[in-house]
Amino acid sequence: MEYNSWVPLLPEQASSFAGQVDLLYFYLILVSIAFAIPIGVGIFYFMIRYRERERFASTEGIHGSIVLETTWSIIPFLVSMTIFLGGAYVFFNQYTIPKDGMEIYVVGKQWMWKIQHSTGQREINELHIPVNTTIKLTMTTEDVIHDFYVPAFRTKADIVPGRYSYLWFKPTKPGKYHLFCAEYCGLNHSGMGGWVYVMEQKDFDNWLAGNTSGQTPVEMGKDLFYNKLGCASCHAGGPAQRGAKLEGIYGKEVKLTGGGTVIADDNYIRESILTPTAKIVDGYQPIMPTFKGQVTDEQLNGLVAYIKSLSGVTGSSTTVSTTSAPAANTASNSASPAQASNANTPRRADRGSNSQGSNPKAPGPTRRP
Ligand code: CUA
Repeated sequence: MEYNSWVPLLPEQASSFAGQVDLLYFYLILVSIAFAIPIGVGIFYFMIRYRERERFASTEGIHGSIVLETTWSIIPFLVSMTIFLGGAYVFFNQYTIPKDGMEIYVVGKQWMWKIQHSTGQREINELHIPVNTTIKLTMTTEDVIHDFYVPAFRTKADIVPGRYSYLWFKPTKPGKYHLFCAEYCGLNHSGMGGWVYVMEQKDFDNWLAGNTSGQTPVEMGKDLFYNKLGCASCHAGGPAQRGAKLEGIYGKEVKLTGGGTVIADDNYIRESILTPTAKIVDGYQPIMPTFKGQVTDEQLNGLVAYIKSLSGVTGSSTTVSTTSAPAANTASNSASPAQASNANTPRRADRGSNSQGSNPKAPGPTRRP
């Protein structure tokens, strides 16, 4: 659709959600009209019908009507249930993260979007994706709450400090679409946007091939694990193994000291790196130091991706709901300290990439086609 001088009624429909959301939206408008018109007409009718003040000074003394009252209770109840069911259908469809799909990491910060493909390509304020492919975003923020919003896809999700948030969509139409931050996040919130480029598969392959890929998230995580952070000295197995085994844990239940279990998902791994004492694996000592403030969110993504790869997993956790899972509660308990440390070190990301100076390919500026 060409915009020309017209203001479009709605953004383009460019994802598999768009039709559903718009249908629900038009249904709401229809219901509103269906109630508003009879009420408006009724007001005028009664105004004219009962305009003689003396004649209608006292009412006829009606004392209720079961039929009338039942009718005007049941009909609105049924109507509101259709709205509820329609909304619930769309909601569960959007926030049930599919098992497969192309995984892309997103890091929000005041005030930009940093994007990393699992093949290693990086972008800033731009996202290139192939059409008709399920895209899964694994998102974190370095500072405050942001919200990844693409109106043409009719979906968005808050990105909350201290935990992973997820968003998925399936673009259905090649084109260039606005990306916005939809959560007020400070002075330049309105400028925190960019573009999503939906491309035909072959164009996307060309784009990927034409962009130097840095380390993939898994490679970056492995590098940190063995070289830069020295996780391997305790976690890599062999006689020196003092830390919990990481092979094969992803998505499994982990027994904790003092009873209780936890599912080893993205948020658990993240928490174990930042706040190792929060949940001690049964049979191990609480000796691991915290890595809070020493790793950027991108490096954390890399570590999580690497630890997942030890279990043969390349997608993101499927046990996660973006809203109400109990795991969200435990994660948010650790959110406040993480948040505080983020607030104190706003330029942590920059320091992080400097520390990677030995690797010229490490986090660099975006590369354009
Ligand atoms: Cu980020 Cu508003």
